[in-house]
Amino acid sequence: MKSIVAGLVVWLVSVPVAFAQSPVSESAPRSEAVPEITVYKSPTCGCCKKWISHLRQNGFHVVAQDVISMGPVKQKYAVPQMLRSCHTAVVNGYVIEGHVPAADIRRLLKSRPPLWGLAVPGMPIGSPGMEQGNQRQPYGVLSVDRNGQVDVFSLHNQ
Ligand code: CU
Ligand code: CU
Repeated sequence: MKSIVAGLVVWLVSVPVAFAQSPVSESAPRSEAVPEITVYKSPTCGCCKKWISHLRQNGFHVVAQDVISMGPVKQKYAVPQMLRSCHTAVVNGYVIEGHVPAADIRRLLKSRPPLWGLAVPGMPIGSPGMEQGNQRQPYGVLSVDRNGQVDVFSLHNQ
């Protein structure tokens, strides 16, 4: 009897441990709800890495691509000169330029408007990946259509 109880205790203890050790996120098939986003960035860019962490924390599957020069990437994806930032990302056919919050990308992917993509020009302090203490610079996420028409998609830190 004692050994059965002991065995049960071992079983109860070992099962949760086994679950905790199995890399569920790695082995489980990726759900359709998890968007895959490719991020082109300079290997030395710190704020790009922080933006990627922000995306991962918000459920994105990020493929990070280090490139020596961002110029050809901006050219390939037709990023308007005025709207350029550090990194350029591509998700489901949309271009995401700069420190666009994950929630805005989610909204874009949900509503699927006929756009080129979204952009946060420059690198506003307080945008995802550009945190500096309590400093929050107001900024807008711009939507850009395929003719280069720019509109405001969302406003932050207002
Ligand atoms: Cu940046
Ligand atoms: Cu960046």
